[in-house]
Amino acid sequence: MKTVKERCRFVVLISGQGSNLRAIVQFCRENNVSADFVKVISNVADAPGIEWAKQQGLPTAIISHRDFASRQAFDVALAELVQQCNPDYVILAGFMRILTKDFVSKFENRLVNIHPSLLPAFQGLHTHARALQMGVGWHGCTVHFVTAELDHGPIIAQAALEVEDGDDEASLRNKVLSLEHKLYPMVVSWLANRQVDVDSTGKVTVRGVASRHLKGYLS
Ligand code: GRF
Repeated sequence: MKTVKERCRFVVLISGQGSNLRAIVQFCRENNVSADFVKVISNVADAPGIEWAKQQGLPTAIISHRDFASRQAFDVALAELVQQCNPDYVILAGFMRILTKDFVSKFENRLVNIHPSLLPAFQGLHTHARALQMGVGWHGCTVHFVTAELDHGPIIAQAALEVEDGDDEASLRNKVLSLEHKLYPMVVSWLANRQVDVDSTGKVTVRGVASRHLKGYLS
């Protein structure tokens, strides 16, 4: 008997523009990726990404951290909202909140983030300014599984570009963001195809791909 693989269910968490959300959804639609975006959730009511998601007919929800007395209370409510959607994976796409250990533990190896640096370098904020300040030759972005430690966790894929003499913070941000828009959709399609495994040591393998990483700035 023919077995039909179930479509992969994604919840996407955003706080702002949602350009990664757009890139992911558009790529999946154009390439017939077996992915359903079952909810786009924002902690910011007027996030432009939420407007776009609504226009696209995607289910959306707003849950503002300002309505909760503590980070813990917000994360409990957020976890409930996410769990109601029964996702295979939770995608953080510019979600600007640090998640508690309790939240993270509920979605072990199913919670994915993109960070605008080549981790483990430049964890935290202002990555492009710090990369320029340090004079690194290469910079980029990383998609990784989220663990309780900020901007740590098993690396799924990275995209790197060479820093050029004329680069400033804005140019670097734009270049890295366009790399993010290539890397994140690619990773989401691997997740949707169930190609990604993590072993007990936290090492990631992706079945059926020649390389997990992208190199060079492609405009
Ligand atoms: C991206 O640079 C992402 O790496 C960082 O926040 C930015 C979000 O951009 N975490 P967008 O909301 O996807 O446009």
